[in-house]
Amino acid sequence: MSAILLNHINDVKTYIYKWKNENLKIGLVPTMGALHSGHVSLIKKAKSMCDKVVVSVFVNPVQFGPNEDYDKYPRTIEKDKMLCDELDADIVFAPSANEMYGENVKLSNTDLTFVCPPYNYIDCMCGKSRPGHFDGVATVVTKLFNIVQPDYAFFGQKDAQQLYIIKKMVKDLNMNLEIVPCPIVRESDGLALSSRNAYLSADERQCALSISKALFEIERLYNQKITDANILFDSALAILNKNLELEYLEFRNFDTFEKVDKICKNTLAAIAVKIGKTRLIDNIILG
Ligand code: PAF
Repeated sequence: MSAILLNHINDVKTYIYKWKNENLKIGLVPTMGALHSGHVSLIKKAKSMCDKVVVSVFVNPVQFGPNEDYDKYPRTIEKDKMLCDELDADIVFAPSANEMYGENVKLSNTDLTFVCPPYNYIDCMCGKSRPGHFDGVATVVTKLFNIVQPDYAFFGQKDAQQLYIIKKMVKDLNMNLEIVPCPIVRESDGLALSSRNAYLSADERQCALSISKALFEIERLYNQKITDANILFDSALAILNKNLELEYLEFRNFDTFEKVDKICKNTLAAIAVKIGKTRLIDNIILG
């Protein structure tokens, strides 16, 4: 079946209204497009749990900083649509920035209502080097939830901080849906799938393999009962390719998001690096 490509909010709302009247379960897979196997797994999960699946494809300007890759971010809507057809998604919602935010709106919090997650969760890890990023994510995700009114929304665990913040937002703001976390999808050599992998040269890609290797080493040592975060940090550092610029490697309790010195069940080991101009993240949940 062919997915319906819609660019306008009101057109999406017409379908949602009809589906709600029919009591159908609606799933939303929010994406920025350039779909890869990681997204495929989210859409498949959504198909398995919902009667109707909406895939949003929107490169959200308000979650990019002024020196980030908004203009360069891969935009492959024809290919994305074909993939959604194959996966039997019902709607591909691909709005323009004007459609989402209105013409002439200055995309800043002087002119636009933003959803701002608490500082504790956005002032660290990815939020440290990307000020405003999670406000932008929370804002667009809220808008998508309001437009699509999903029963379930599907997010990859690769963006662990994003996943945590969205789950917290849904709880704190009594949003009427369930967030479904989906496991990281990796290439056979361990590299976590990301639309930004497309920026990597062959040498850089080779270099990037040390990211997952470092995380797997942490897991291996943890499974041997080594729980001291400093020891695990140093072991991972020894494996990371020296041409990578480490932005952070942190251990956090994935229930509370607090930093931990001793690893226990449900600890997130999360890493961000820069390889040349490309910023990559990855993580693993221990225990
Ligand atoms: O993870 C992403 O692709 C984006 O941050 C999201 C959730 C689609 C919001 O723009």
